[in-house]
Amino acid sequence: RTVAVLAGGLSHERDVSLRSGRRLSAALREEGLLVEEWDTDASLLERLRTQRPDAAVVALHGGEGENGSVQTVLEMLDVPYVGTSSQGCRRAWDKPTAKALVANSGFTTPDWVVLPHSIFRELGAQAVLDAMVDKLGLPLILKPHQGGSALGTQVVKEAADLPAAMVGCFAYGDTVLAEKYIDGVEVAVTVIEGEGGPETLPAVEIVPESGVYDYTARYTAGLTDFFTPARISDDAAKAVSELAVAAHRQLGLRDISRTDAMVAEDGTVYFLAVNLSPGLTETSTVPMAIEAGGATLGSVFADLVGRAVS
Ligand code: DAL
Repeated sequence: RTVAVLAGGLSHERDVSLRSGRRLSAALREEGLLVEEWDTDASLLERLRTQRPDAAVVALHGGEGENGSVQTVLEMLDVPYVGTSSQGCRRAWDKPTAKALVANSGFTTPDWVVLPHSIFRELGAQAVLDAMVDKLGLPLILKPHQGGSALGTQVVKEAADLPAAMVGCFAYGDTVLAEKYIDGVEVAVTVIEGEGGPETLPAVEIVPESGVYDYTARYTAGLTDFFTPARISDDAAKAVSELAVAAHRQLGLRDISRTDAMVAEDGTVYFLAVNLSPGLTETSTVPMAIEAGGATLGSVFADLVGRAVS
């Protein structure tokens, strides 16, 4: 069986995806699958048409690989694939949309506002920033509304730092998601779909040395400590697991996802974000969770490939 692992692409997360793709390909080969690593570019459609792999695995992060575009191509050509459908991508890829849908299901997520770039021009930058701080307080977090790996994400402690932080965030997209800062234990919860539906793996606790889980802390070995299972109460572990399954279902995700959450000191669990194509690099939490659950990356994805083609 030939499996094309789609990686690379042209998003800001290209390098991360190449690392995910390399690791996943090696793991699938160990399971005996015939794997081709494809660096995804404009030739994708033609390549799929002529080479027709039996299945594809989307190991792309960001951009076309997560906004549903690549998935639409796979669907048009009837290539079975592992990962969320184009429709699920469109729902989950946009962070404010995902937050609103998960909040509507009764879960807690940090208060937020969505600021398109045009609002600053129309209403005056300082007036908008003042209103945002009145609503969310300080510190607060700025995130590009779409995208991953914390690129463009800024934790802002002082109002004086806001204009520069906004500019940094807008470098990654035309809309900013501003969120209230929640102090607590950050956890990542992996969901994998098996015969019995979506199930969670042990939550991974994330403790960056610098205090901020930014791009460098995510992808440089040794800069972040991980604890699996997370050092949280049984009640909190149950709550984050329920949250991750609910987010997976509510957003229409498929096969595998990762929900990032914060457990506050008072025990409240906050939904932060969902990842429909989570990182599979050496420092990513999904492979850690899979190993803690007693399986291997290769066996889990070989099962998902099997489900995709069946
Ligand atoms: N978007 C990256 C790959 C992640 O969150 O794992």
